[in-house]
Amino acid sequence: MAKIGMWLYQNGGGDEIQKKLIKKLSKEGIETVSDLNLRNAFSRKGKIICNETVMEELDLFFSYNAGQQTQYQMYLYEALSYSIPTLNDFRAFALTEDKFKTNYILKRNGIKAPNYKLYHRDDVKELKTILKNWGGKMIYKPTDGWGGVGLVKIENEQALEMILPFLNQTDIRYFYIEKFIDYDNTDYRIDIVDGKFISAYGRKAGKGDWRTNISSGGSIILREPDDKVIELALKATEVTGLDIAGVDIIYDREKEEYVVLEVNGIPAFATPEQEKLGLDFNDRKIDAIVELIGKKIDQKA
Ligand SMILES: Nc1ncnc2c1ncn2[C@@H]1O[C@H](COP(=O)(O)OP(=O)(O)O)[C@@H](O)[C@H]1O
Ligand SMILES: [Mg+2]
Repeated sequence: MAKIGMWLYQNGGGDEIQKKLIKKLSKEGIETVSDLNLRNAFSRKGKIICNETVMEELDLFFSYNAGQQTQYQMYLYEALSYSIPTLNDFRAFALTEDKFKTNYILKRNGIKAPNYKLYHRDDVKELKTILKNWGGKMIYKPTDGWGGVGLVKIENEQALEMILPFLNQTDIRYFYIEKFIDYDNTDYRIDIVDGKFISAYGRKAGKGDWRTNISSGGSIILREPDDKVIELALKATEVTGLDIAGVDIIYDREKEEYVVLEVNGIPAFATPEQEKLGLDFNDRKIDAIVELIGKKIDQKA
């Protein structure tokens, strides 16, 4: 019998999702060891051991716990990915955890995303020219941020003057900026599993904010994407290598085109509250993930 390991978030209805996943997997003849939080793991003699499970003996490790994974967890996740299949694949996951690397890969593949620049910290003086070239608006983003935290919108030269001393004081070696896209403060979140479209919804920013993140005051909106949006999300997912992805897309009003803002490797299931609002994709997504896991195990065998 095949056996997989799982670490899935428990808040926001995650515990119920986990139960359903385990039940459906079991119907497919796949046993699950859950709660494999690598925070509790150690490694010796060529084995990673988590809650008494020898991770290398599993057929696959499904890691799905958003928020900040610690460096320790990421380190073991990476090592494990050399021994057994991980879902998402560690390499793809690590790529999409980084905003610069993601945008870099999207652009390399001709996928529309905001213009960006990555600088060495000593080259900050260039910022003024860039600000002008981009029409006077840009965003400073920590490359590993989440939830809209740490983003700084720079709208004029005075704002830039104010942030420069701060940037000089930090010990980051590089910094990443993006052109501020003129958009209507709403976005699309497109869920993809195994190269297939699962669902679409959107979010709109809270009053007075330009960030659509729920944790920054945004709220869910029901919306139907046109085919262009879905196609863009599928392409973006493909080039990142993610098996499970949530692609964030906005509409650039100036260039009159859709752009990919972010590709998330752990897009949340709908919470019970969001299900009440009409987000009804959870079961579809669970089925697709179960099918995907079965496929991965077969490939391995
Ligand atoms: N280049 C941009 N132009 C306009 N708005 C942006 C841009 N980048 C991000 N935003 C807004 O800020 C939010 C958070 O940015 P994002 O890059 O997705 O970081 P996070 O990982 O914190 O969600 C986005 O959902 C979007 O609403
Ligand atoms: Mg985001």
